[in-house]
Amino acid sequence: MINIQNVTKVYNGKVKAVDNISLSIEDGQIVGFIGPNGAGKTTTLKMITGILNTDTGNITLNGFDIRKDPIMAKKQFGFVPDNPDIFLRLKGLEYLNLMADIYEVDSESRRQRITDLAKLFEMDHALNDKILSYSHGMRQKIVVMGVLVHDPKIWILDEPLTGLDPQSAFALKEMMRKVAQEGKTVFFSTHVLEVAEKLCHKVAIINKGHIAFFGTLEELKKDYHPNMSLEEIFLEVTKNA
Ligand SMILES: Nc1ncnc2c1ncn2[C@@H]1O[C@H](COP(=O)(O)OP(=O)(O)O)[C@@H](O)[C@H]1O
Ligand SMILES: [Mg+2]
Repeated sequence: MINIQNVTKVYNGKVKAVDNISLSIEDGQIVGFIGPNGAGKTTTLKMITGILNTDTGNITLNGFDIRKDPIMAKKQFGFVPDNPDIFLRLKGLEYLNLMADIYEVDSESRRQRITDLAKLFEMDHALNDKILSYSHGMRQKIVVMGVLVHDPKIWILDEPLTGLDPQSAFALKEMMRKVAQEGKTVFFSTHVLEVAEKLCHKVAIINKGHIAFFGTLEELKKDYHPNMSLEEIFLEVTKNA
């Protein structure tokens, strides 16, 4: 469970990127975070994960406050950032083992998970190459695999489908469904409204730092028009707000 309460972020004393938002994301749910470019999605995800400080408000992950109890809070989640260009000098396998070490995954589980994930994401052939040599899509996959290798209770992903080939995008979406069914929490930002429509239990629409809507798609359609697509409603919600 992720709890965000009255959180605000102002950059350089000027740009109010996130303006007093509150969201509660329950166990077993996939929640899509949608909004136009510059709406405040990445800023919010960086505050949830403790990369950025909040200016006001509180964020807890399974009850652990990201500011007051950062180690315990960070043990709860795995994060896929929007830019996968990390640890470029490591080989794929070294990166996965590093992640497994940090999160104290025992050797038997890690071996099994790495084998399964490599097969699922068709990365077997590349694990002994440096991440530096990987394409964007392969870097994206190795970061996703690094999260899955420690099997976190909460998944936080920033535009995770960007740059993934259709097979890997499908595999990732199936994974998101599976972990949610296991009772885990999935919160991810996306531009791809069809994905949100098919995958999510709830959506949070953010526009200019404000939450314009938070709820199920049925509720959203009831608030607007039952025959409108998520895309049409999204355009309407973000038009003049
Ligand atoms: N490091 C930064 N310094 C100053 N302004 C920033 C910084 N990062 C983001 N912003 C601004 O904050 C707003 C929200 O950005 P961001 O959270 O990246 O949006 P999104 O991920 O929804 O596209 C935008 O106006 C953006 O220009
Ligand atoms: Mg972003």
